[in-house]
Amino acid sequence: MKATAVAPANIAFIKYWGKKDDTLRIPANASISMNLSAAKTTTTVSFSQEFTSDTVVLVGEDISKEETQRVIAHINRIRARAHLHMFVNVMTKNTFPKGTGVASSASGFAALTVAGCAAVGLSLSEKELTILARMGSGSACRSIPDGFVEWTDGNTSEDSYAHSLYTHDYWDIRDILCIAETKKKETSSTKGMEFASTSPHWETRQKELPERIARIKKALKEKNLYLLGETLEEDCLSMYKVMNTQKPPLFYWNRTTEECVRAVKAFRTSGSLVYFTIDAGPNVHVICEEKNQTYVLDRVKRISGVQSVLVNTPSKGTVLVDDHLY
Ligand code: DP6
Repeated sequence: MKATAVAPANIAFIKYWGKKDDTLRIPANASISMNLSAAKTTTTVSFSQEFTSDTVVLVGEDISKEETQRVIAHINRIRARAHLHMFVNVMTKNTFPKGTGVASSASGFAALTVAGCAAVGLSLSEKELTILARMGSGSACRSIPDGFVEWTDGNTSEDSYAHSLYTHDYWDIRDILCIAETKKKETSSTKGMEFASTSPHWETRQKELPERIARIKKALKEKNLYLLGETLEEDCLSMYKVMNTQKPPLFYWNRTTEECVRAVKAFRTSGSLVYFTIDAGPNVHVICEEKNQTYVLDRVKRISGVQSVLVNTPSKGTVLVDDHLY
């Protein structure tokens, strides 16, 4: 009873920040993302009568007690669904460099869900897998379907799932991910978004979102990078306005983040369609066309605080593979 899955991280064009239901991880709003080709997690899960305890190993990195508990809590959801009473071995490995701060719960819980279900022989539909992954970490549901993905604005667990809007080969754009910090962040997304609705800007953001989501969908449909970029930056800044003014406030950016943002603005002054978006941390995702990749890469690598750069194309969702980690 062993299976291995490879899952991509994803970058949100429309952000998930705040929940309707904390336990089930039902988000306050729909979100839209793109899977990332250079930031992936591989996870092997096996269950056996011979194991005498649950073990979780993260290859080449330490894993905290809380992180291990969160993984086992998710395995318990899978065990309950399969009526299985066996211990588990989980081994997981990130393909992106150690300590880049993109060690994303999205790719982690997507790979864990798909490998875990396959290991116990549960054959769930893609929609069911996204619902299950969502309970491990919300953004993980968006790492399962192919390419450009929407996580619906549901009110119940069954209505809150992710589906592909367009496949990964639909539009050849780039996400040049600038790593601005290698330390683990002090406040996790889970903890941070608990207080999102205390911001005076929360209600406004919620009201604005349906129109902004429609604009992102239009931009994707038309492959209109100008509209996509203008809108995704707007949503990133709208999320940060909430983060910075919620109680207690959250500040994830550092000096390097600001320098990257300034560099992106300078690209635009010179006429190129180059945009930024940032999740809950200091790393900057620079979104641009393939033809501008080299030029952007050369410039961001010269920013002194940028520790490494990952070049991403749109990626497939989570897949099962035969190559097990053990
Ligand atoms: C800022 O999915 O990590 O990256 O559901 O509590 O595990 P939990 O949160 P998580 O939050 C991601 C927040 C974000 C925006 C986004 O990816 O949409």
